Amino acid sequence: MELNQEVDFIVVGSGVAGLLCSLFAADYGRVALFSKSEVQASNSMLAQGGIAAAIGTNDDPLMHEEDTLRTGQGLCDREVVRSLIREGPQMIQFLQQLGVSFDQNAESGLALGMEGAHQRARILHIGGDQTGKGITEVLLEQVLSHSQITVYAKTSVHELAVEDGQCVGVWVVDEQNELLYYRAKAVVLATGGLGQIYQYTTNHPIATGDGYVLAYHAGATLRDMEFVQFHPTGLRVDSDSSSLTVPLISEAVRGEGATLVNEHKTPFMHRYHEWKDLASRDIVSRAIFTEMENGHEIFLDARKIKNFSSRFPSISKQCEKIGISPAQDLIPIVPVAHYSMGGIATDAYGQTSLQRLFAIGEVASSGFHGANRLASNSLLEGLVMARRAVERMAKLPPLSSERSIELSRPSLCASDLEINPELFKLIRQLMWKNVGIVREASRLYEAIQILQQQMKKFGDSLNVNRSLLEIALLVTRAALWRQESRGAHFRSDFPNVSSEFQRHSVQTSEHRLSS
Ligand code: SIN
Repeated sequence: MELNQEVDFIVVGSGVAGLLCSLFAADYGRVALFSKSEVQASNSMLAQGGIAAAIGTNDDPLMHEEDTLRTGQGLCDREVVRSLIREGPQMIQFLQQLGVSFDQNAESGLALGMEGAHQRARILHIGGDQTGKGITEVLLEQVLSHSQITVYAKTSVHELAVEDGQCVGVWVVDEQNELLYYRAKAVVLATGGLGQIYQYTTNHPIATGDGYVLAYHAGATLRDMEFVQFHPTGLRVDSDSSSLTVPLISEAVRGEGATLVNEHKTPFMHRYHEWKDLASRDIVSRAIFTEMENGHEIFLDARKIKNFSSRFPSISKQCEKIGISPAQDLIPIVPVAHYSMGGIATDAYGQTSLQRLFAIGEVASSGFHGANRLASNSLLEGLVMARRAVERMAKLPPLSSERSIELSRPSLCASDLEINPELFKLIRQLMWKNVGIVREASRLYEAIQILQQQMKKFGDSLNVNRSLLEIALLVTRAALWRQESRGAHFRSDFPNVSSEFQRHSVQTSEHRLSS
């Protein structure tokens, strides 16, 4: 077997978690960073609202912790939540030292916005509504000029290499469709989410869930895959739109006072929760879904917000594209798939159940988000976990040069690399209809049957189409297993929280969930 290159660390994914992890890891050795598309393509780049940190004079990390735990509905790891939140203010300072420039407020320094389920205004933002872009661009500049980091764009990971129960490298497919093997003492998956398996999603087209499937096939444990967060306010555009990504109307818009109304301009959130438009995302999304099922069209009324176009410049542009002026018009909205709380199970340092394999950011389930993520907690998690993973990776012993088994070269043919558009459409529509905001057993069974039927068309080897079916099945099986409603997972046939299910769903390639 041919080894193409040996480095110290391999990082997969070029969102904030992957970029910061590469930068920190470069202090301890050579880093190969793989990005399956252009290096600028990531969900982080699209993150609008901001990054949550308890830095306001009236705030307290304990309060941020309380909000995160309440929203996570019994499935957060308290220690992980506490320690991550305590690192928040330091991470903000570190980013500022690196050159990240958060929006300022004339009276009190850093401008802090409000979002749903937060008791305090604690959302730092950049360029009004371009926070992810602001952070990613600074990190990217550093990564691209770092002598210890080599960035391989348009290079996707085909398979993780496992030797003696440890992850020792990756098989990648480069721009010329060549299969290459890279070896390293640690591999970090920072591949982002899975929103693209849903017909309507805010996620970047790259977010097809590859990292979860790579880890699953390599034998790592996945946890809580049923918990997919639906953001209440995607911009409702023409249903014929061929775009794979629905523009987001940040929750920060409601934080500045916008309200949800129906076609008669009548508000309705007071009927669903005392926090009204700023209740947690699961509550707001389900309320909108219910109103829509009752025949209403839903809008965001942001007309009261002064200087909308300077506070939310990129949202203003998106609205203008469909002829909406938020200062005068109601903004048509619809809930859309946004974030996966579940993922590759890790400890508080990003270590997965497979030795030398780490997972950070959205692809990981670190215990921070539980059953439902608090708005703007994900950039924070991705960045802090990047630092922590490196703390652990740096201490790993080098790989032994003696290999007990020869790794075999995976098979690969051209059709393994191309998404079949009909299959992709089928999966996206099926997941939206059967495994969406409100779920129920018969539709989940139906989805599993259809997905399994499709799966028969593909062999056992890893393939992009097989991978899409696999990730859809992992979410659906977990949704069927969880016979209760908790956080972002709602079952109309089990509408209440059940103490029996105050536990994680766990899936490995050896252990399938059944209900
Ligand atoms: C938003 O701006 O509403 C999205 C931010 C997030 O998902 O945390």
